[in-house]
Amino acid sequence: MITIHKGHIFHIAGAPKVTQAEQALAWHPDGAMAVDERGRIVYCGNWKDLPASLANAHIIDHAGCYIMPGFVDTHMHYPQVFCGDSYGGGQLLEWLNNCIFPSEALLADPEYARTAAIEWCDRMINSGTTMGLIFGSAHPHAQDCLFETARERGLRIVCGRGVETVAPDWSKQKSSEEDAIRLVRAEIEKWHPLTAEARKEALQFVAIVPRFSLSVTAKTLKALGDLYEEYRDRGVYFTSHLNENARPKTGEIDSTKEVYKVHSYLDTYDGKFLPNSQVGGKSLLGKRSVLAHCVHCTDKELARLAETGSSISHCPVSQFFLGSGTMPWRRTVAAGVNISIGSDYGAGDEFFIPQVLNSCFKAHISEATPVGMDPYPTNDQSVALHPAELLFTGTLAGARALDQEDRFGNFDIGKEADFVVLDPAKCQTMGMTLKHMYKNPDPKVARDAHMFAVIMLARESAVSATYVRGRKLKASK
Ligand code: GUN
Ligand code: ZN
Repeated sequence: MITIHKGHIFHIAGAPKVTQAEQALAWHPDGAMAVDERGRIVYCGNWKDLPASLANAHIIDHAGCYIMPGFVDTHMHYPQVFCGDSYGGGQLLEWLNNCIFPSEALLADPEYARTAAIEWCDRMINSGTTMGLIFGSAHPHAQDCLFETARERGLRIVCGRGVETVAPDWSKQKSSEEDAIRLVRAEIEKWHPLTAEARKEALQFVAIVPRFSLSVTAKTLKALGDLYEEYRDRGVYFTSHLNENARPKTGEIDSTKEVYKVHSYLDTYDGKFLPNSQVGGKSLLGKRSVLAHCVHCTDKELARLAETGSSISHCPVSQFFLGSGTMPWRRTVAAGVNISIGSDYGAGDEFFIPQVLNSCFKAHISEATPVGMDPYPTNDQSVALHPAELLFTGTLAGARALDQEDRFGNFDIGKEADFVVLDPAKCQTMGMTLKHMYKNPDPKVARDAHMFAVIMLARESAVSATYVRGRKLKASK
């Protein structure tokens, strides 16, 4: 049976780059999307143009609501589900030591882990995030809880246990070199769809996740590279952090270069983790590799990310919170790297991706305008991202980062119907603004203003339904 979802539909059609998002915007104020019994999209467009063959389909009328692609969050930390706005008394490394390592240790308790997994999946569903690339717990039972709950609910996730072979003993996250690899392999064998046939239908996948280079040794990076080489062709992912905190000498980047004696941080993930950036093993980069933050990359690092087809997860809310700086938008786009969006929950305190995009807009319009200088400096990097670029970054770019653009991320015919229904009546400021705002007589200007207001003003309360592959998801609360 075919189901037709009626509403105000918009998405980024085709497979554009971020710079082409505006031209690729599909906007159907009186729209219809038809979904078959397998959850595949068979029509998306204007209601009045619906093919006659669909005349007898079942209709769900989302009257007054917006229908947009499910949000793809490419960087989030499941063991930090109860860590939002933790006061660490400093930047990244202080926050990790003072708040995050002790909090993540709580997942050693199976009951606590179960509560965390249920809460995590509820939050994803309630905020319209249909796919998440998730840093997991070091504890296999906690990982099982998350994979089981995601499977029960029908959520898409990519997740992997956080690998740490260098950590304080009290943190309860540390594994021996042997256990680290054994446990990642066991997780892949248990939860990753290993055959091509299974991958076509799968919703849950496994990633190889060293926490960051400072949490592992050169020996671990070598072993993980070998393991990745073994499973790479079967769709396993790699993710970690890169160039987040640039505090001189004692911060993340300088400490990494000091510990490994490498020329660049990226080298540690690129098989060149021996002193002087000598090759010591296989690269972890590639089209299913996602590096979070990339606030302080050199041109060479950006070029290498682009060359290998790796993606960035840009996490502006977290970067504000930890004082990490701002990923340079223009320079990163110009390098040709795919930029997706990440909440980085719990360094970010916002699950709802439109709010993360809201911060993304504010971060880049404020970029590098030197205070107290010429009001129009020539090195002004300020950019007012177009709402279509924001939408692209929160949906299709994420599907691309996860190498699943052929399955979801927009409403092209044949894709799986992952979508969010936003009801402005459930969000006062959004609803009243959209109703009473000035409507520019130029239809294109009015459309852009309308879309911008939807993305910027929506809050989680507006999410009235979340669908994955045509199926409405249910949270436990
Ligand atoms: N670098 C290493 N671990 C973390 C983490 O948990 N959050 C962030 N934001 N950066 C990290
Ligand atoms: Zn992170």
